[in-house]
Amino acid sequence: MKRDNKLRKFDNLIISAGSGVSSNGFTLLQTRQRLKNRDRLDSAYTPPVRPAAALAKAQITRHTPPMSNQTILITGANRGIGLEFAKHYAAQGHQVIGACRETSEALEAISTRIITGIDLSHLSNIVTLAEELGDTPIDTLINNAGMWHDETVNDMNIDQIIEQMTINAYAPLKITTTLLPNLKEGSKVAMITSRMGSIADNSSGGRYGYRGSKAALNMFSKSLAIDLKPKGIAIAILHPGYVQTRMVNFGGDIAADESARKLAGIIENLTLENSGTFWHSNGEVLPW
Ligand SMILES: NC(=O)c1ccc[n+]([C@@H]2O[C@H](COP(=O)([O-])OP(=O)(O)OC[C@H]3O[C@@H](n4cnc5c(N)ncnc54)[C@H](OP(=O)(O)O)[C@@H]3O)[C@@H](O)[C@H]2O)c1
Repeated sequence: MKRDNKLRKFDNLIISAGSGVSSNGFTLLQTRQRLKNRDRLDSAYTPPVRPAAALAKAQITRHTPPMSNQTILITGANRGIGLEFAKHYAAQGHQVIGACRETSEALEAISTRIITGIDLSHLSNIVTLAEELGDTPIDTLINNAGMWHDETVNDMNIDQIIEQMTINAYAPLKITTTLLPNLKEGSKVAMITSRMGSIADNSSGGRYGYRGSKAALNMFSKSLAIDLKPKGIAIAILHPGYVQTRMVNFGGDIAADESARKLAGIIENLTLENSGTFWHSNGEVLPW
């Protein structure tokens, strides 16, 4: 009942995000600026100094790779939950690669590298993203970029639904499969979906494009979890909560930084055994 009330609250919001798709122009951040940012970040991170005995013990007892110095690729990293993911991982000393349509000052302040011009309403930009990345190994890919339009049974707009399917469902699938050469055994992929894509949880109807695209993303993600298990790549299917971002006109009941921190905790505990699970950021396993 509480959940349904939240959905109704969400349903009543006027959503503004993403309706103005930017130009198709591909504008890479100046290479020089990028290298400058990277060098600044590389030199800013100093690993903590530990006594030799403690270090030796840590090396013997550690069962997972160290959390720092991993490479995290985040789509939609310029604002909202994506930006908070970027801040979270950068603060831990990881290399953050932000992919977005246009950069932001906040992202430039913390990321290792920014790849702009990645408008996911044009799937060909994913090839450009892959070309830009080259053979850069990716430890964690976070497919976060997403958009929302509203349709009702009396106000149907199929073009809008196609756009949401492209950005919210086809793009994360294509990004993941196109970047398979960059992922390796032990890599993780997080799909930022929504509980709105749960068929079992749909008690208020409507939202055809958003619900449909996130349901499709959930199914694509589940198949990826099965198909990529032999390669040692795990997939998390994550609902961030009702989060205070532009997508919901900064309503919501959880701040974007808190949501990103909780989701990062789930990603940290992601294994091949629990791969393909649909989680709420509060840790609850959600119904399909
Ligand atoms: N906020 C919530 O309550 C909530 C709930 C459930 C799920 N989610 C999911 O969480 C994810 C992040 O959303 P958010 O809340 O952080 O929303 P947001 O603040 O509106 O951010 C959306 C992000 O997606 C990017 N994006 C939109 N259209 C794009 C396109 N055509 N190509 C490339 N990037 C595009 C935006 O980039 P631009 O700046 O270029 O527009 C922005 O970086 C989404 O997948 C969303 O569906 C959010």
